[in-house]
Amino acid sequence: MHSVLIKNGRVVTGSDDQIADIYIEGEKIVAIGKNLPYQASVVIDASGKLVFPGGIDPHVHLDMPFMGTYSSDNYETGTRAALHGGTTTVIDFILQTQGKSLHDALTAWKGRSDGNAVGDYSFHMAVTDFNDQTCLEIKQLIDQGITSFKTFMAYKGALMINDYQMVGLMQEVKKHGGLVTVHATNGDMIDYLIAKHRSEGKLSPLYHYLSQPEVTEAEASGRFADLAEYTGVNGYIVHMTCEGALNEIRRSTMRNQRVLAETCIQYLTLDASLYENDGEGAKWVMSPPLREKKDQAALWAGINQGLVQVVATDHCPFMWQQKLMGEHDFSKIPNGHPAIEHRLELLFSEGVNKGRLSLNKFVEVTSTNAARIFGMYPEKGTLSIGADADIVIFDPTEKHTLSAKTHHMNVDYSAYEGWELTGKCKTVLLRGQIAVHDGVAKVGKGYGKFIHRKTIESSTTSNPNN
Ligand code: URP
Ligand code: ZN
Ligand code: ZN
Repeated sequence: MHSVLIKNGRVVTGSDDQIADIYIEGEKIVAIGKNLPYQASVVIDASGKLVFPGGIDPHVHLDMPFMGTYSSDNYETGTRAALHGGTTTVIDFILQTQGKSLHDALTAWKGRSDGNAVGDYSFHMAVTDFNDQTCLEIKQLIDQGITSFKTFMAYKGALMINDYQMVGLMQEVKKHGGLVTVHATNGDMIDYLIAKHRSEGKLSPLYHYLSQPEVTEAEASGRFADLAEYTGVNGYIVHMTCEGALNEIRRSTMRNQRVLAETCIQYLTLDASLYENDGEGAKWVMSPPLREKKDQAALWAGINQGLVQVVATDHCPFMWQQKLMGEHDFSKIPNGHPAIEHRLELLFSEGVNKGRLSLNKFVEVTSTNAARIFGMYPEKGTLSIGADADIVIFDPTEKHTLSAKTHHMNVDYSAYEGWELTGKCKTVLLRGQIAVHDGVAKVGKGYGKFIHRKTIESSTTSNPNN
């Protein structure tokens, strides 16, 4: 049987930190310890390197029809780029078409993913039209391993559901132990501000930012938390960006409720001054928009306080030509930015190296917590006996520069062009196979497999912080 021995690395999980060897047989970790006495077909010397669980990015959009176009990374290019940056599993969003069934949407997404992924993947189901028919499909999807249901409180007319539908969905998902996730911004208020700015001839990317002020996110986050409390469902807020929304999460903890929260790497590292960048602001048009430095400080603190459990990417790339669809009107710029490849390296360089995060916290928010919340733990999200051998061997001292010229994402600009980082993924294993080594992909299209997930409530180990 294929076997791998990783020797003398600094093995870091969400809770442990030790110099040890890891022995792998087939797809699984068989032993962890000092001076392991195994012979293996492949031996990797990891002295001086960090060895941690493969990253899990629970918020990506691959090959997604959106705003009149498609996100430019498909399952092959997107999951391969993810592997280059140490992310071994992603969770993509299936979007129900309003008026159609959830199963129709699942079939469409399987057509994009089956046989194409290089890295492992799973799906959230975005419910954009909750009705008596959709209601019957919730349990069926959970049985098929799709245990988290995404809702949008914005993008009216395409993806948004109202509170009537939200409460109905929450009650149904609660019945089956699943999770409701949310894009929490006030869609009506945003649409009003967009219309107002357009009528005043204010059309540059800066007005994308000014159409989604902090209050639109704080209000919707609070409303979502209140509805989740009433229905008792497990709730998770995606791409949280700001202090106001974080305060709503904090408020929920005061009544002993726990609403889980994700932020994304861009909200920790980039700020709204980029929208004033002449001619280039569209690169950072995403929803919610980038915020202020005070929001970055609040988010870093929120991670360390355990209020924010996950750092994802909301990877939703578009070529520059696609971004130009909104050259003369910010409301037509496809929303989203590319980041799937550099989440771990950015968070290590900006977080761990700058003293903002401990190494254990880094592993928690890039891998372990997502595995627990989304029902993949302990097969994924940690390094333990019996777990999938999804492993990153990381040089914490290597310096490198991010650029569109060298990245692997299918997008012709980098949102981080010229950024100098310290710390680089050297070798990445996915289920025991070397997937990437020294910048070269070693597994191909079709190696990635669909991960059938448990519900958040089906495992006592599912809750981060427990
Ligand atoms: O701008 C974004 N975030 N694009 C992707 C869709 C979404 O709202 O997550
Ligand atoms: Zn969103
Ligand atoms: Zn998204």
